[in-house]
Amino acid sequence: MIVLGIETSCDDTAAAIIKDVQCLSSIVFSQDSVHAEYGGVVPELASRNHIKNIFPAVRKSMEDAGVTVEDLDGIAATFGPGLIGSLLVGLEFAKALAKSKEIPFVAVNHLDGHLSAVHLLKRPVPYPHLGLVISGGHTSIFRVSGPGDYKLLGATRDDAAGEAFDKAAKMLGLGYPGGYKIAALAAKGDKHAIKLIRDIPLKGSLDFSFSGLKSAFRRHIEKNGIPTGRGIEDLAASFQGAVIDAILYRVRLAIGQEAPRAIVATGGVAANKELRTALTDVAKETKIDILLPPPDLCTDNAAMVAVAGKRKLERHELSSLEIEASARALL
Ligand code: KG4
Ligand code: ZN
Repeated sequence: MIVLGIETSCDDTAAAIIKDVQCLSSIVFSQDSVHAEYGGVVPELASRNHIKNIFPAVRKSMEDAGVTVEDLDGIAATFGPGLIGSLLVGLEFAKALAKSKEIPFVAVNHLDGHLSAVHLLKRPVPYPHLGLVISGGHTSIFRVSGPGDYKLLGATRDDAAGEAFDKAAKMLGLGYPGGYKIAALAAKGDKHAIKLIRDIPLKGSLDFSFSGLKSAFRRHIEKNGIPTGRGIEDLAASFQGAVIDAILYRVRLAIGQEAPRAIVATGGVAANKELRTALTDVAKETKIDILLPPPDLCTDNAAMVAVAGKRKLERHELSSLEIEASARALL
C-alpha cells in the first residue's frame, strides 16, 4: 500500500511517501528561520509559509520516492490538534488532491501520528504499551491497548515539556527553538549543581506541570544573571534533569498502574539523548521493552502521518471530505 502523508499542524511543512512500513521519502520544510526572530511560532506567518511550501513539499516527496499520484492507494493528512490556519493548508490540499483523483482519504490526529511512528521501526510493537508524546505542544501519557485503542492517562496542565525547554532557552538568549541547544549545553554540565525546585510538581498524579520549574528558572536568572562557561552548562543540565525526573516519575507510576509490555516515546523532546538513555534504563529496571523512533521520526514529520493513515485505511476507517480542521482535536 502506497500512502502520501501530509503534516502542517504547526510550523513545519511536511510530506512523505510510505510503502507498507517502508519510508520511501520524508520531506520537512522547516520554518525555524522565519519564526526565530520572534522567539516562537507566529501563526499567521506559519499559514502563509505552508501555502508557499505545500506544493513543493508534496512534489518533492513524490519525486524522491519515484511515485506518481496514480500510484497512491491513500492520502493522509493531519486534521488536528494544532494551529487552525496551519492545519487548514495541509488538510484542504490533501482533500482536494484526493477528490480530484478519487483516492481514498484519511484524516489523522497529530498525536496518533506521533504514536504511530513506532510502526516504521520494522519490528513488532507489543500491546499494551505506554505511549508517551513529549513535544512542543504536548506532554501526554497514553495506555495503548491495541491498534487505534488509546486511553489518556495523564497530560500537562500548563506548559508542554518542549515549550518549557524553548522558554528556558529564550531566557538564556539561545534563540528558538531551543530544546536541542539546552540539551547540547546540558551534556557538558552537572545536573545536580543547581536545585531549581524542591520536589516533583503534582506528585502522585500522572498529570504534569512545568510552570513552577519555568518560574524557578526565571527567578534564578533574575537573581544571578545569565551565567557563562561552566555555569550555563550546569544550569542547562539542572533544568533538563528536572524535566526528565518529572517524566521518569510518571513513567514509573504508569508502569505500576498499567503493567504495560513496553514503553514507546515520541515527540520532539523524545529526540533528547539523555531522556532516551534514562527511559531505556527504566525499561531495563522494570523488565519491559522500549521502542524509540529515531530523532527524525520523533520531531514533526509526515511519515508518521502516512503510517497512521495506512493503519486507519487497513481498518477501513476512511474519512469524509467534509471533515474540518480542529485546533483541539482529542485522541
Ligand atoms: O514534535 P515536535 O517537532 O513539534 C510539536 O509537535 O510540538 O517538537 C518540537 C519540540 C520543541 O519544543 C523543541 O525545542 C523540542 O521539541 N526538542 C527538544 C530536542 N529536540 C527538539 N527538546 C529537548 N531536547 C532535544 N534534543
Ligand atoms: Zn508534534
